[in-house]
Amino acid sequence: MPVIAVVGGQWGDEGKGKIIDLLAGRAHVVVRSQGGDNAGHTVVNPRGTFALHLVPAGIFNPATDCLIGPGVALNPEVLLAEIDALRERGVAADKLVISPRAHLVMPYHLVLDRLEEEARGPRAIGTTRRGIGPMYVDKVRRIGLVVGDLQDPVRLRERVSAAVERRNLQLARDFNAEPIDPRETASRYDQFAERIRPHIADTEPILERALRDGRTILLEGAHGTLLDLDHGSYPFVTTSSCTVGGLLNGAGIGPRHLTTALGVFKAYATRVGAGPMPTELDDEVGAHIRERGQEYGTRTGRPRRCGWFDAVAARHSVLVNGFHALAVTRLDILDALDELKVCIAYELHGQRIDHLPSQAEEVERCRPVWEGLKGWSSPTGNVQDWRELPTAARDYVRFLEDAVGVRAGLIGVGREREKTLFTGALP
Ligand code: GDP
Ligand code: IMO
Ligand code: MG
Repeated sequence: MPVIAVVGGQWGDEGKGKIIDLLAGRAHVVVRSQGGDNAGHTVVNPRGTFALHLVPAGIFNPATDCLIGPGVALNPEVLLAEIDALRERGVAADKLVISPRAHLVMPYHLVLDRLEEEARGPRAIGTTRRGIGPMYVDKVRRIGLVVGDLQDPVRLRERVSAAVERRNLQLARDFNAEPIDPRETASRYDQFAERIRPHIADTEPILERALRDGRTILLEGAHGTLLDLDHGSYPFVTTSSCTVGGLLNGAGIGPRHLTTALGVFKAYATRVGAGPMPTELDDEVGAHIRERGQEYGTRTGRPRRCGWFDAVAARHSVLVNGFHALAVTRLDILDALDELKVCIAYELHGQRIDHLPSQAEEVERCRPVWEGLKGWSSPTGNVQDWRELPTAARDYVRFLEDAVGVRAGLIGVGREREKTLFTGALP
């Protein structure tokens, strides 16, 4: 009865979507547990290339139940557009079930996300502006609207217009902003509700049955551990819990059911948005990685900041998640480089340290201590067995494994689903 959590080990965009799509071929249930459409998961499989934001990446396997769990921030408009786009390309979302406990992203959350970012000025976080932060704020204040509210049209209209009216006062007071039309918003949400209603059901009985019957459940992480609200570089973080613990909680599965925590790491590092990134490369190697890897955001199109693999930050991620195995993705992007570097420690205030400092300001001051490694200067994209990788490529992966203390069970050598090598180390 495997329960496998697939979690981003860095700053997001590690290739979680690809791994879920691959593993979904053997899974019965795939759950999105946290975050919202600030996520962008790219999947390349025989059906085509897809960018998913809310729909779990298990959707391409018609036999898999896809759940949106209680911890998710759901923008109904985005979800419906995604379902329509999938249907147009022949992918049905009939097996998508949404927990009534999930919270709804409202139009004022999007407005607030933008206005709050603008007000931060040079301290802007670089959010995706999908309203996710403001939505989780309302959830914690216990004033949020939930997916369950979509089930009763009369109650929905009342709640939506009351919420918009209340928020208009705040928008005018704090930002001198234009009001949002409460009636128009209520009727839009009424229309969304009609289409979303057939997908709403308690997810607990589905998970309970799956666990009892020994079925395979995949938990699809969004974002990455270094963006986690508790364990990331606060305040340059997202607003949900992106770790294994967060996924279990957001799905509603107790920790004793977890069998495998799979940490997804790129063979190098990228970050979108502001915040410290000690191994960032502001040179031609960084530009080479960005162009060869087409490192532009799936959600926002922003160029991703690129750098060498940061083993110090990765060890932090391994600690807070307790990974059983790693998936090392995008090894092929390093194919053309003769020399590689890995950050094995930091230098801070003239001292060598081997842990990630808690405060963003301190991380900002860290200088990487490098270990140089030989590149393999040959293509890996067509390799079908990990033992056939060039020796230097295998040595590189082995170095990463030793540096973080966890074995790699999967190695990615291309965007397509099948360009993933199994090493036998996946429990
Ligand atoms: P996610 O948010 O973690 O699902 O990752 P994204 O989809 O945002 O970004 C990862 C990008 O890398 C996508 O364009 C994937 O298609 C691509 N990708 C994933 N694994 C590999 C790999 O092993 N090699 C290459 N070249 N691309 C990969
Ligand atoms: P996936 O699931 C990369 C980053 C944003 C910003 C910070 C806060 O595709 O890996 P938010 O909109 O969440 O309030 O923004 O978090 N961020 C991501 N970066 N991949 C993601 O998701 C991200 N989700 C949020 O760029 O720095
Ligand atoms: Mg992404």
